[in-house]
Amino acid sequence: MTETDRPALPKVNQAVPSSARIYDYVLGGKDHYPVDRDAAEKVIEAFPTVHVAARQNRNFMHRAVNEITAMGVTQFLDIGTGIPTEPNLHQVAQAARPDARVAYVDNDPIVLAHARALLVGTAEGRTTYIDADLNAPEAILSAPQLHETLDLDRPIALSLVAVLHFLSDEQDPYRVVATLMDALAPGSFLVISHITTDLDPENMAIALDVYRQSGVFVQSRNRDEVTGFFTGHEILEPGVVASNQWRPAGESPAWLDTQVNCWAGVARKQ
Ligand SMILES: C[S@@+](CC[C@H](N)C(=O)[O-])C[C@H]1O[C@@H](n2cnc3c(N)ncnc32)[C@H](O)[C@@H]1O
Repeated sequence: MTETDRPALPKVNQAVPSSARIYDYVLGGKDHYPVDRDAAEKVIEAFPTVHVAARQNRNFMHRAVNEITAMGVTQFLDIGTGIPTEPNLHQVAQAARPDARVAYVDNDPIVLAHARALLVGTAEGRTTYIDADLNAPEAILSAPQLHETLDLDRPIALSLVAVLHFLSDEQDPYRVVATLMDALAPGSFLVISHITTDLDPENMAIALDVYRQSGVFVQSRNRDEVTGFFTGHEILEPGVVASNQWRPAGESPAWLDTQVNCWAGVARKQ
Protein backbone atom coordinates (compact mmCIF):
# COMPACT_ATOMS: atom_id res chain seq x y z
CA MET A 1 0.00 0.00 0.00
CA THR A 2 1.35 3.48 -0.87
CA GLU A 3 0.95 6.61 1.26
CA THR A 4 -1.40 8.17 -1.31
CA ASP A 5 -3.93 5.36 -1.66
CA ARG A 6 -3.99 4.44 2.01
CA PRO A 7 -7.45 5.05 3.50
CA ALA A 8 -7.80 6.91 6.80
CA LEU A 9 -7.00 4.30 9.45
CA PRO A 10 -7.13 5.96 12.86
CA LYS A 11 -6.59 2.92 15.05
CA VAL A 12 -4.25 0.81 12.90
CA ASN A 13 -1.06 -0.24 14.68
CA GLN A 14 1.57 -0.47 11.96
CA ALA A 15 4.25 -1.75 14.34
CA VAL A 16 2.55 -5.07 15.03
CA PRO A 17 1.44 -7.55 12.33
CA SER A 18 -2.25 -8.32 12.00
CA SER A 19 -3.78 -11.61 10.86
CA ALA A 20 -6.00 -9.75 8.36
CA ARG A 21 -3.02 -7.95 6.76
CA ILE A 22 -0.75 -11.05 6.68
CA TYR A 23 -3.60 -12.94 4.97
CA ASP A 24 -4.13 -10.07 2.53
CA TYR A 25 -0.43 -10.19 1.59
CA VAL A 26 -0.59 -13.95 1.07
CA LEU A 27 -3.67 -13.51 -1.15
CA GLY A 28 -1.86 -10.90 -3.26
CA GLY A 29 -3.76 -7.89 -1.86
CA LYS A 30 -2.26 -4.45 -1.20
CA ASP A 31 -3.29 -3.65 2.38
CA HIS A 32 -0.25 -4.51 4.47
CA TYR A 33 2.76 -2.90 6.13
CA PRO A 34 6.42 -4.00 6.36
CA VAL A 35 5.80 -5.90 9.65
CA ASP A 36 3.03 -7.90 7.96
CA ARG A 37 5.16 -8.62 4.89
CA ASP A 38 8.12 -9.76 7.06
CA ALA A 39 5.88 -12.16 9.00
CA ALA A 40 4.15 -13.39 5.83
CA GLU A 41 7.47 -14.05 4.06
CA LYS A 42 8.63 -16.17 7.01
CA VAL A 43 5.36 -18.12 6.86
CA ILE A 44 5.85 -18.61 3.10
CA GLU A 45 9.38 -19.89 3.74
CA ALA A 46 8.03 -22.53 6.14
CA PHE A 47 4.91 -23.35 4.08
CA PRO A 48 5.63 -22.44 0.44
CA THR A 49 2.12 -23.25 -0.83
CA VAL A 50 0.42 -21.03 1.75
CA HIS A 51 -0.90 -18.70 -0.97
CA VAL A 52 -2.57 -21.65 -2.72
CA ALA A 53 -3.90 -22.88 0.64
CA ALA A 54 -5.37 -19.40 1.28
CA ARG A 55 -7.06 -19.44 -2.15
CA GLN A 56 -8.34 -22.95 -1.42
CA ASN A 57 -9.81 -21.63 1.81
CA ARG A 58 -11.60 -18.81 -0.07
CA ASN A 59 -12.82 -21.31 -2.68
CA PHE A 60 -14.21 -23.54 0.08
CA MET A 61 -16.18 -20.53 1.35
CA HIS A 62 -17.48 -19.84 -2.18
CA ARG A 63 -18.57 -23.46 -2.68
CA ALA A 64 -20.23 -23.60 0.75
CA VAL A 65 -22.16 -20.38 0.02
CA ASN A 66 -23.29 -21.76 -3.35
CA GLU A 67 -24.46 -25.03 -1.78
CA ILE A 68 -26.30 -23.19 0.99
CA THR A 69 -28.09 -20.76 -1.33
CA ALA A 70 -29.05 -23.76 -3.50
CA MET A 71 -30.69 -25.22 -0.38
CA GLY A 72 -32.74 -22.04 -0.05
CA VAL A 73 -30.93 -20.13 2.71
CA THR A 74 -30.17 -16.56 1.69
CA GLN A 75 -29.07 -14.94 4.96
CA PHE A 76 -25.41 -15.02 6.06
CA LEU A 77 -23.58 -13.92 9.21
CA ASP A 78 -19.88 -13.86 8.32
CA ILE A 79 -17.57 -13.35 11.32
CA GLY A 80 -13.86 -12.78 10.66
CA THR A 81 -14.57 -11.33 7.23
CA GLY A 82 -11.05 -10.18 6.36
CA ILE A 83 -9.95 -7.38 4.06
CA PRO A 84 -12.31 -7.42 1.06
CA THR A 85 -11.16 -9.93 -1.58
CA GLU A 86 -13.29 -10.45 -4.67
CA PRO A 87 -15.52 -12.25 -4.92
CA ASN A 88 -16.65 -11.41 -1.39
CA LEU A 89 -19.28 -13.59 0.27
CA HIS A 90 -22.20 -11.31 -0.66
CA GLN A 91 -21.11 -11.31 -4.31
CA VAL A 92 -21.18 -15.12 -4.42
CA ALA A 93 -24.52 -15.32 -2.59
CA GLN A 94 -26.18 -12.52 -4.57
CA ALA A 95 -24.96 -13.96 -7.90
CA ALA A 96 -27.14 -16.98 -7.07
CA ARG A 97 -29.84 -15.14 -5.13
CA PRO A 98 -29.94 -11.35 -5.71
CA ASP A 99 -32.06 -10.95 -2.56
CA ALA A 100 -29.37 -12.51 -0.31
CA ARG A 101 -28.48 -10.58 2.84
CA VAL A 102 -25.11 -10.59 4.58
CA ALA A 103 -23.97 -9.22 7.94
CA TYR A 104 -20.17 -8.99 8.07
CA VAL A 105 -18.27 -8.85 11.39
CA ASP A 106 -14.56 -8.26 12.07
CA ASN A 107 -12.51 -6.66 14.85
CA ASP A 108 -9.59 -5.31 12.80
CA PRO A 109 -9.66 -1.54 12.13
CA ILE A 110 -8.23 -2.05 8.64
CA VAL A 111 -11.22 -4.22 7.73
CA LEU A 112 -13.50 -1.52 9.17
CA ALA A 113 -11.73 1.05 6.97
CA HIS A 114 -12.57 -1.04 3.91
CA ALA A 115 -16.08 -1.97 5.02
CA ARG A 116 -17.64 0.27 2.38
CA ALA A 117 -16.45 -2.23 -0.26
CA LEU A 118 -18.49 -4.88 1.56
CA LEU A 119 -21.63 -2.79 1.59
CA VAL A 120 -22.15 -2.52 -2.16
CA GLY A 121 -24.54 -5.24 -3.22
CA THR A 122 -27.58 -5.86 -5.37
CA ALA A 123 -30.61 -3.58 -5.11
CA GLU A 124 -32.70 -6.52 -3.92
CA GLY A 125 -30.23 -7.72 -1.29
CA ARG A 126 -28.66 -6.01 1.67
CA THR A 127 -25.28 -6.03 3.45
CA THR A 128 -24.05 -4.51 6.70
CA TYR A 129 -20.79 -4.33 8.61
CA ILE A 130 -20.46 -4.73 12.39
CA ASP A 131 -17.21 -3.77 14.13
CA ALA A 132 -17.17 -6.44 16.86
CA ASP A 133 -15.21 -9.27 18.42
CA LEU A 134 -15.98 -12.98 18.02
CA ASN A 135 -15.10 -13.32 21.70
CA ALA A 136 -18.22 -11.33 22.56
CA PRO A 137 -20.96 -13.26 20.72
CA GLU A 138 -23.71 -11.65 22.83
CA ALA A 139 -22.66 -8.20 21.56
CA ILE A 140 -22.79 -9.44 17.96
CA LEU A 141 -26.23 -10.96 18.53
CA SER A 142 -27.60 -7.76 20.05
CA ALA A 143 -26.10 -5.37 17.46
CA PRO A 144 -28.90 -3.28 15.89
CA GLN A 145 -27.31 -3.60 12.42
CA LEU A 146 -27.65 -7.38 12.66
CA HIS A 147 -31.40 -7.18 13.28
CA GLU A 148 -31.88 -4.47 10.63
CA THR A 149 -30.30 -6.78 8.05
CA LEU A 150 -31.08 -10.38 9.03
CA ASP A 151 -34.29 -11.99 10.28
CA LEU A 152 -33.23 -14.27 13.13
CA ASP A 153 -36.55 -16.10 12.97
CA ARG A 154 -35.51 -17.54 9.61
CA PRO A 155 -32.45 -19.74 8.85
CA ILE A 156 -29.07 -18.03 8.67
CA ALA A 157 -25.71 -19.46 7.60
CA LEU A 158 -23.06 -18.62 10.20
CA SER A 159 -19.69 -18.42 8.45
CA LEU A 160 -16.58 -18.78 10.63
CA VAL A 161 -14.00 -19.21 7.90
CA ALA A 162 -10.34 -19.16 9.00
CA VAL A 163 -11.09 -17.30 12.23
CA LEU A 164 -11.68 -19.74 15.11
CA HIS A 165 -7.95 -20.57 15.29
CA PHE A 166 -7.35 -17.02 16.57
CA LEU A 167 -9.28 -17.96 19.74
CA SER A 168 -7.36 -19.83 22.44
CA ASP A 169 -8.89 -22.70 24.41
CA GLU A 170 -9.02 -20.32 27.39
CA GLN A 171 -11.35 -18.09 25.36
CA ASP A 172 -13.66 -21.09 24.99
CA PRO A 173 -14.41 -20.99 21.26
CA TYR A 174 -16.82 -23.92 21.69
CA ARG A 175 -19.03 -21.76 23.94
CA VAL A 176 -18.74 -18.91 21.43
CA VAL A 177 -19.95 -21.10 18.55
CA ALA A 178 -22.72 -22.66 20.66
CA THR A 179 -23.95 -19.22 21.78
CA LEU A 180 -24.17 -18.04 18.19
CA MET A 181 -25.85 -21.21 16.90
CA ASP A 182 -28.33 -21.25 19.81
CA ALA A 183 -29.60 -17.86 18.63
CA LEU A 184 -30.25 -19.08 15.08
CA ALA A 185 -33.41 -20.73 13.76
CA PRO A 186 -33.67 -24.44 12.89
CA GLY A 187 -32.48 -25.00 9.33
CA SER A 188 -29.53 -22.64 9.87
CA PHE A 189 -26.05 -23.64 8.74
CA LEU A 190 -22.60 -23.54 10.34
CA VAL A 191 -19.63 -23.14 7.98
CA ILE A 192 -16.14 -23.57 9.45
CA SER A 193 -12.59 -23.75 8.19
CA HIS A 194 -9.79 -24.00 10.74
CA ILE A 195 -5.98 -24.15 10.62
CA THR A 196 -4.45 -27.50 11.52
CA THR A 197 -1.01 -29.04 11.73
CA ASP A 198 -2.57 -32.46 10.95
CA LEU A 199 -2.07 -32.16 7.19
CA ASP A 200 1.61 -31.08 7.16
CA PRO A 201 2.81 -31.26 10.77
CA GLU A 202 6.43 -30.16 10.39
CA ASN A 203 6.00 -27.13 8.12
CA MET A 204 2.77 -25.92 9.69
CA ALA A 205 4.31 -26.06 13.16
CA ILE A 206 7.08 -23.73 11.93
CA ALA A 207 4.55 -21.45 10.18
CA LEU A 208 2.43 -21.18 13.32
CA ASP A 209 5.55 -20.39 15.40
CA VAL A 210 6.23 -17.50 13.02
CA TYR A 211 2.74 -16.14 13.66
CA ARG A 212 3.14 -16.41 17.43
CA GLN A 213 6.66 -14.90 17.43
CA SER A 214 5.21 -11.99 15.42
CA GLY A 215 2.60 -11.44 18.13
CA VAL A 216 -0.36 -13.05 16.34
CA PHE A 217 -1.85 -15.85 18.45
CA VAL A 218 -2.88 -18.90 16.38
CA GLN A 219 -3.97 -22.27 17.70
CA SER A 220 -3.95 -25.39 15.56
CA ARG A 221 -6.76 -27.86 16.21
CA ASN A 222 -6.93 -31.46 15.04
CA ARG A 223 -9.78 -32.98 13.07
CA ASP A 224 -11.65 -34.21 16.15
CA GLU A 225 -11.36 -30.79 17.78
CA VAL A 226 -12.66 -29.05 14.65
CA THR A 227 -15.46 -31.62 14.35
CA GLY A 228 -16.36 -30.75 17.96
CA PHE A 229 -17.51 -27.29 16.85
CA PHE A 230 -20.38 -28.97 14.98
CA THR A 231 -21.63 -30.93 18.01
CA GLY A 232 -25.42 -31.14 18.05
CA HIS A 233 -25.75 -30.38 14.34
CA GLU A 234 -26.00 -32.56 11.24
CA ILE A 235 -22.64 -32.50 9.44
CA LEU A 236 -23.16 -32.49 5.68
CA GLU A 237 -21.27 -34.85 3.36
CA PRO A 238 -18.33 -35.28 2.93
CA GLY A 239 -17.80 -34.39 6.61
CA VAL A 240 -14.86 -32.47 8.02
CA VAL A 241 -12.17 -32.72 5.34
CA ALA A 242 -9.19 -30.80 3.95
CA SER A 243 -10.54 -27.50 2.61
CA ASN A 244 -9.90 -28.40 -1.04
CA GLN A 245 -11.70 -31.75 -0.65
CA TRP A 246 -15.04 -30.25 0.46
CA ARG A 247 -17.36 -30.77 -2.53
CA PRO A 248 -14.78 -29.75 -5.16
CA ALA A 249 -16.45 -28.24 -8.19
CA GLY A 250 -14.43 -28.43 -11.39
CA GLU A 251 -11.00 -27.84 -9.83
CA SER A 252 -8.04 -29.41 -11.67
CA PRO A 253 -6.38 -32.59 -10.28
CA ALA A 254 -3.22 -30.53 -9.57
CA TRP A 255 -5.25 -28.03 -7.55
CA LEU A 256 -6.83 -30.87 -5.58
CA ASP A 257 -3.38 -32.35 -4.84
CA THR A 258 -2.07 -29.13 -3.29
CA GLN A 259 -1.01 -29.19 0.33
CA VAL A 260 -3.60 -27.18 2.29
CA ASN A 261 -3.63 -26.15 5.94
CA CYS A 262 -7.30 -26.11 7.01
CA TRP A 263 -9.98 -28.57 7.97
CA ALA A 264 -13.37 -27.52 6.62
CA GLY A 265 -16.96 -28.53 7.04
CA VAL A 266 -20.60 -27.47 6.95
CA ALA A 267 -23.43 -28.53 9.27
CA ARG A 268 -27.17 -27.88 9.47
CA LYS A 269 -29.05 -27.10 12.67
CA GLN A 270 -32.08 -29.38 13.12
C1 LIG B 1 -7.31 -15.20 8.00
S1 LIG B 1 -8.51 -13.91 7.89
C2 LIG B 1 -9.89 -14.79 7.15
C3 LIG B 1 -10.76 -13.91 6.27
C4 LIG B 1 -11.91 -14.63 5.57
N1 LIG B 1 -12.84 -15.21 6.52
C5 LIG B 1 -11.38 -15.70 4.67
O1 LIG B 1 -11.33 -16.86 5.08
O2 LIG B 1 -10.97 -15.41 3.55
C6 LIG B 1 -9.06 -13.79 9.59
C7 LIG B 1 -9.94 -12.59 9.88
O3 LIG B 1 -10.51 -12.79 11.19
C8 LIG B 1 -10.44 -11.57 11.89
N2 LIG B 1 -10.42 -11.88 13.32
C9 LIG B 1 -9.44 -12.46 14.05
N3 LIG B 1 -9.80 -12.56 15.33
C10 LIG B 1 -11.06 -12.02 15.43
C11 LIG B 1 -11.96 -11.81 16.51
N4 LIG B 1 -11.64 -12.18 17.75
N5 LIG B 1 -13.14 -11.21 16.25
C12 LIG B 1 -13.47 -10.83 14.97
N6 LIG B 1 -12.65 -10.99 13.92
C13 LIG B 1 -11.45 -11.58 14.14
C14 LIG B 1 -9.16 -10.91 11.41
O4 LIG B 1 -9.19 -9.51 11.64
C15 LIG B 1 -9.18 -11.28 9.94
O5 LIG B 1 -9.85 -10.30 9.19
